[in-house]
Amino acid sequence: MTQTSVGNAESLVTDVERIVEEMTLAEKIGQMTQVAQAAITPAEVAEYGIGSVLSGGGGYPTPNTPRAWADMVRSFQEAALKSRLGIPLIYGVDAVHGHNNMIGAVIFPHNIGLGATRDAALVEEVGRITAREMLATNVHWNFGPCVAVPRDIRWGRIYEGFGEDVNLVGELGAAYVRGQQIADGSAADGEFISTLACAKHYVGDGATGWGPTPRYDWLQWWNWGNDERWQLDQGDAAIDEETLRTIHLAPYRDAIAAGVDSVMVSYSSWNGDKLHAHYYLLTEVLKGELGFNGLVVSDWMAVDQLDPDYERAVAAAVNAGLDMAMVPINYQRFITTLTKVVQSGAVSMARIDDAVLRILSVKARLGLFRQPFGDESLLEEIGSPAHRAVAREAVRRSLVLLKNENQLLPLAKDMPTLLVAGPAADDIGLQCGGWTIEWQGAAGRITPGTTLLEAMKEVVSPGTVISYEPQAEFEEGVRAEVGLLVLSEQPYAEGEGDRATVELAEEDVALLTRMRQHCERLVVILFSGRPLIITDHLPEWDAFVAAWLPGTEGQGITDVLFGDYPFTGRLPHSWPRSMEQVPFSALEQSSVPPLFPYGAGL
Ligand code: BGC
Ligand code: BGC
Repeated sequence: MTQTSVGNAESLVTDVERIVEEMTLAEKIGQMTQVAQAAITPAEVAEYGIGSVLSGGGGYPTPNTPRAWADMVRSFQEAALKSRLGIPLIYGVDAVHGHNNMIGAVIFPHNIGLGATRDAALVEEVGRITAREMLATNVHWNFGPCVAVPRDIRWGRIYEGFGEDVNLVGELGAAYVRGQQIADGSAADGEFISTLACAKHYVGDGATGWGPTPRYDWLQWWNWGNDERWQLDQGDAAIDEETLRTIHLAPYRDAIAAGVDSVMVSYSSWNGDKLHAHYYLLTEVLKGELGFNGLVVSDWMAVDQLDPDYERAVAAAVNAGLDMAMVPINYQRFITTLTKVVQSGAVSMARIDDAVLRILSVKARLGLFRQPFGDESLLEEIGSPAHRAVAREAVRRSLVLLKNENQLLPLAKDMPTLLVAGPAADDIGLQCGGWTIEWQGAAGRITPGTTLLEAMKEVVSPGTVISYEPQAEFEEGVRAEVGLLVLSEQPYAEGEGDRATVELAEEDVALLTRMRQHCERLVVILFSGRPLIITDHLPEWDAFVAAWLPGTEGQGITDVLFGDYPFTGRLPHSWPRSMEQVPFSALEQSSVPPLFPYGAGL
């Protein structure tokens, strides 16, 4: 069967309406269903007329190569085109700092680092390049940008947000959307966007309070940590409506003004009510007041959390305004259940038609009916020098210099010896953090890139000896003028990264003590998804650079470390003095200033 044809922009609306009229209930519900790539075959995509397939964190093909990605996505799309109406699917990924599940993609700094750049044009370029690497593999939908305004550095997702300030988040989120949605210039005539951005997680995900996330006992699949994990993530935002609107909703206005055509709902609750069943916030505020015409997608299995009775859960979400459900594994159950609640009248046909109209309109605006594939000629651009150059620029703009006694930095390229320590100095995985190849990220050589140590070796003079001991176990008596220690967190994502305290780990303190014995002056570089409490240790350091989670391009760090470029990054979060100034609301009430204020940077 040939593909359903959809014409130019003017006729898009009527064309899409015509398709919806031709669709059976089963076909409509198929469009509202989004399934993980590992849980469905291309034949099943065609059978159910599935609207979207996704790769969650770590959802890569085997082998994990750009070519295999392009082939995998192509095979799902070809199957979708063979369904009765030939409606193209849309493939989604979490490309939250580059096309980050794919080995070989350029990995940009996580958003917290982009926040430190304060550079909207650069962020737009990051979005544009990410889109090009996605299109090379036939992927059209990115679950980003995250426009959370994180207010608690204990949160495991803090680095996914641009910073604590609502205006910063609004400006950079909008810039990212523009870059992502006009990636290949095809929107030049205003007709089509090229890849779809997704503002997430709607709304107030950065405002949740500490405390055990409700245990959804009926969800056997969920391995809630019984410790400090999952104490903030997916929790409850107990804030009044004015705070919700002025701080957490505002970036959505900016993203919508920039044209964002999809929004993902947050797992979290607002004053005890789950966002996924929130008619007021999803339908009245987002679609009504804010005039959002795109599609609203759920988070991963989030509908399951609404009610132990799955029929009630599905009806609640769809009636609240959910258009597409991310039901990654047991999608047949969603299809059967939604069918049942439509037939019983618990969900109206009008609501289904509205959801499907929104989904197909987004696909039409993307040009998917005309060109359902990406552009495999872009495969050669994946991880290209040009793309890496932009990531390198983003890294160097993101570094925040917070201490520099006696102008220790920049370092001279021709010093005789430089002692380097810290496992993170030579580890791409630690340099990238969570959401890199794997959902949680991983230490080690997980994807091509340049570690900081490699970058240093490239840049110093031939006469300079760089001596590297990951654990700072230099021989006794070894002593240099300058030592450089790289500290890092272990990678984490989502609630797995929630922490009761964000102090330096004991190993790091031991590393510091060892390193101090071997150098006159110490430079500390920190790879972290958030500020850590360092107040007691800082006096021992001569220079301190917050480097966030910079990604694959370590040369961006040496660019400023050795003075080829100036430090320009500014703190995207206030840097608390102690845990008593955490969360942000505690800092606001504190009589003592933070260690470094928002915007600090030498
Ligand atoms: C996360 C989302 C992500 C989705 C798909 C969820 O667990 O909260 O941010 O887009 O998974 O991977
Ligand atoms: C997936 C992630 C997702 C998470 C949600 C993981 O298995 O890979 O993409 O965000 O589950 O719980």
